Amino acid sequence: MITSALPYANGPLHIGHVAGAYLPADIYVRYLRKQGKDVVFICGSDEHGAAITIQAKKENTTPKAIIDKYNAIISKAFSDLGISFDIYHRTSAPIHHETSQEFFKTLHDKGVFEERESEQYYDEEFKQFLADRYIKGTCPVCANPNAYGDQCEKCGTSLSPTDLIEPVSTLSNKPPVKRKTTHWYLPLNKFQDWLQSWIVEGEGRTEEWKKNVLGQCASWLKEGLHPRAITRDLDWGVKVPLPNSEGKVLYVWLDAPIGYISATKQWALNTGKDWEPYWKSADTKLLHFIGKDNIVFHCLIFPCILKSHGEYILPTNVPANEFMNLEGDKMSTSRNWNVQVHEFLEEFPGKEDVLRYVLCANMPETKDSEFTWKDYQARNNNELVAIFGNYANRVMVLTEKYYGSKVPAQVDSVEQDAYVVAYRAQVAQLFNDYCTGIESYRFRDALMAFMDIVRLGNKLLTDFEPWKLYKTDPIRTEGVLRICLESLYDMATLCEPLLPFSAGRLNAYFNLPAAPKMAVGGVNLTSGAGLGSPFYLFEKIEDQVIQSKLDALESIRRSREAVTAAETTIIAANPIKEAISYDDFSKLDLRSGVVLSAERIAGADKLLKLTVDLGFEVRTIVSGIALHFSPEALTGKKVVVLANLLPRKMRGVESNGMILMAEGKDGALHFVAAEGNAGPGDSIS
Ligand code: 2FM
Ligand code: ZN
Repeated sequence: MITSALPYANGPLHIGHVAGAYLPADIYVRYLRKQGKDVVFICGSDEHGAAITIQAKKENTTPKAIIDKYNAIISKAFSDLGISFDIYHRTSAPIHHETSQEFFKTLHDKGVFEERESEQYYDEEFKQFLADRYIKGTCPVCANPNAYGDQCEKCGTSLSPTDLIEPVSTLSNKPPVKRKTTHWYLPLNKFQDWLQSWIVEGEGRTEEWKKNVLGQCASWLKEGLHPRAITRDLDWGVKVPLPNSEGKVLYVWLDAPIGYISATKQWALNTGKDWEPYWKSADTKLLHFIGKDNIVFHCLIFPCILKSHGEYILPTNVPANEFMNLEGDKMSTSRNWNVQVHEFLEEFPGKEDVLRYVLCANMPETKDSEFTWKDYQARNNNELVAIFGNYANRVMVLTEKYYGSKVPAQVDSVEQDAYVVAYRAQVAQLFNDYCTGIESYRFRDALMAFMDIVRLGNKLLTDFEPWKLYKTDPIRTEGVLRICLESLYDMATLCEPLLPFSAGRLNAYFNLPAAPKMAVGGVNLTSGAGLGSPFYLFEKIEDQVIQSKLDALESIRRSREAVTAAETTIIAANPIKEAISYDDFSKLDLRSGVVLSAERIAGADKLLKLTVDLGFEVRTIVSGIALHFSPEALTGKKVVVLANLLPRKMRGVESNGMILMAEGKDGALHFVAAEGNAGPGDSIS
């Protein structure tokens, strides 16, 4: 039972996601299938939680429209990239709601949960409790005025809503109030000892866990675990299946991993299988492939849920990966710093395996890694084209030239040649490394071992020089090319988990189905059998393609820096005032007006006395702009007037209102006016 983290259906998939949780799982699963194992590979869209409702608000649409849109984009991207899930399900499916509710109910009835009252932020205008992401305020660490209730995206500090200075609801833009609410909690503290012995001491575990995973778990355990609320006040999600729990749903991180089970149930229904052994039988190996931000949920919380339920097996391993950066910066959808899978595949059709290869070669297995376009080009040109593609093409071309694309015969003397015997032994050793790599979640090593096998093939060609040998010893040449072809067929088998599209093309060349088993040296091609025409597995990527990708990223980086610089100067010179409510704002009566005349006021070099037409009346307004404008320049100007300012006498003249002006960074003043047909007296709001 292999699972990959269910991606939130709130945005497209990027290559960092793929390198973290999907490509490694796919390689592993494809390998297991070839080993003849009974394997099910599960994934689907995570369609609940504030991540979805917030995106809906951003795109000015409904949560349902959001999940439908991104579920379609994501599932197509996976399938186009050859990620071979047995099912790609959705947590909005009824079977998922039922399954999650059954879990909640079972644990509730067993008395696993605690019910607690707490105070949470509430938006009185929108009449709802606010998820952390719905609260904004000033970061207590870096003073960013736009920090969220769960995190400040500027300095990265993780926050709770009560940490924010002057919090406001992002729904109404008003300060939220605190309200009492009741939720169910999973008392993780009660599982502390068991988790400690299971994870840290390895009690009852059959596999070594990765260091990065163990490290994170150990540090959570060291901090001490606390009860965690597993319900929320939201109207989007799986409803709490208890009486009197209107408006409450399961916390998305409770229902999402249960999504693996509901997806398995749906897969079983689709295929006429029984889902239960895959989750309940002691001889099932359960693996969760995830990114490092999901470790706590898969290693601590979900196992507690499974264990409490009582019938379920626990994960054998959770081979989490670290993160992949892009050109020196963290990949992120909101900051537009990423490579989206569906966009890549549209722009570069036929490059699925190149992407898989580069992501595997740089997989963040033990620490954060990096994707750069130059590396993408170099790996394609210097490895895929120059090593693998070159070997395949040379073998195909020579076979066509000398044997009319028919499988040449085996030649005993070549088979027994010491060089060939040693070659086979080296390939067998590398095959062993390849298997060990995959089986121990070291996919980079497996890829290297595979490429070393191809390198050996190239060396064999160079050492035997069939293009020369043919002239003196055509029989021996036949034996050599037979070996080369058999090796190429082995390569098709071995590269299937890594480069499934190339594997398919090679099998088609041989007119053979994929080898039934993962092995080397066992193939016996049929002498004289027809082969396909030679082709290139990979094509060179030119500099200008890479340059245009780099230019696009550079312009994103520049515009981001410009925005940050502008924000910093504006805020530093003129800090934003305290937030006000809409009610405060609506007290201002702003009107469009026209200046009829202007004159200086004796003895006041800064003041001008303006006569302003407000449509319904003509006003006298004293304005401190005499140093900036001559009276003549003002006649006929359209202006915005604050019309309900209390009257005030200045130098003996009563002023009834105020003219709005914009002050530039250089101190110059500029008129603010309603554009177009706005006429005197028109209200501005
Ligand atoms: O981090 C994420 O994208 C989550 N949607 C992963 C959920 S994994 C599982 F539990 F469903
Ligand atoms: Zn901050």
